[in-house]
Amino acid sequence: MRVIVTGGAGFIGSHLVERLLGGGHEVACLDNFDAYYDPGLKRENLLPALASPRFRLVEGDIRDAGALEQALATGGEALVHLAARPGVRPSLEQPEVYARINVEGTISVLEGARRHGIRRVVFASSSSVYGRSPDIPFREDGSRLLPASPYGASKLAAEHFCEVFHHLSRVPVTCLRFFTVYGPRQRPDMAVHRFTRLIEDGIPIPVYGDGTMRRDYTYVDDVVDGIVRAIDRADGYSVYNLGNAETVTLAELVAALERALGKSAAIEHRPPPPGDVPVTCASIERSAAQLGYAPRVKIEEGVRRFVEWFRARRAAAHRPNPEPAGAGEV
Ligand SMILES: NC(=O)c1ccc[n+]([C@@H]2O[C@H](COP(=O)([O-])OP(=O)(O)OC[C@H]3O[C@@H](n4cnc5c(N)ncnc54)[C@H](O)[C@@H]3O)[C@@H](O)[C@H]2O)c1
Repeated sequence: MRVIVTGGAGFIGSHLVERLLGGGHEVACLDNFDAYYDPGLKRENLLPALASPRFRLVEGDIRDAGALEQALATGGEALVHLAARPGVRPSLEQPEVYARINVEGTISVLEGARRHGIRRVVFASSSSVYGRSPDIPFREDGSRLLPASPYGASKLAAEHFCEVFHHLSRVPVTCLRFFTVYGPRQRPDMAVHRFTRLIEDGIPIPVYGDGTMRRDYTYVDDVVDGIVRAIDRADGYSVYNLGNAETVTLAELVAALERALGKSAAIEHRPPPPGDVPVTCASIERSAAQLGYAPRVKIEEGVRRFVEWFRARRAAAHRPNPEPAGAGEV
């Protein structure tokens, strides 16, 4: 199958691209390497994919008609739309940026998919659409949707556009609500990555609230597995949670990182920022029953794998340059 992946240079996208190439698919990636975090990391993420003759990179913005057209002209049958401005806290400062990229950008992608006769669309939504919902665990069919940030609102608005697009075009669309994804290549602004960096360097970590804030952390391979299942299944308009269905407190996360790093963390408590929610917890009954989704990696193991990746990457980056050829022969 030919698959177009927007945001394929990012954390989740680059893992998905590799999984698809490994499965024998052809992949076109549309990514603008935006500066939300170091674009060099995104270029590094794509190195394995660039070695494949079945991979094509289109560098550009989803809102740029020419770039979008170029990606769509690769003849993809399925489109996975991951490109977005992520991050809950920064969205409080720049809500209009989130509306432009996550809502208007998604509309452009959907319109492009319709023009090009794409046969199935998968959209990366977020647990943030549940926001302040008291209906825990969050269920696709029962929990109220009460976003607590412009980011959450932008993802919910994009889901609505996905549904309307499906209604008008009959193209199957699946919205996947990811729950705090972590693993190698995780975005440097996210807690697992940020805390690892700070603990490793002996710098105090900011812990918001009293450490009882709970998150449903989901290992990236499990999420990618869910995305691939959603591409294969494609039927009507559907919404699925992709979580781990287990919550971990911030204090437990820090303890797991300390064990994996073999170092203790210095902690600075700070008041919880507006936009943050006390708990996220997925019900995965629907995704298990209909997609066969079954997350496998527990937090202890996932954190261990993350730390292993983090240290290997750092060691490679800090390795002195090899001696130039011929040096010392003079
Ligand atoms: N990581 C998580 O825990 C998580 C949780 C819920 C939802 N999501 C969603 O999953 C998707 C991927 O997240 P991620 O953590 O891999 O983020 P990421 O920032 O690593 O990846 C996003 C990619 O999209 C690209 N991009 C951004 N704006 C673009 C634009 N206008 N045009 C083209 N490309 C653009 C970026 O350059 C980046 O490579 C996003 O839609 C995000 O909102 C992620």
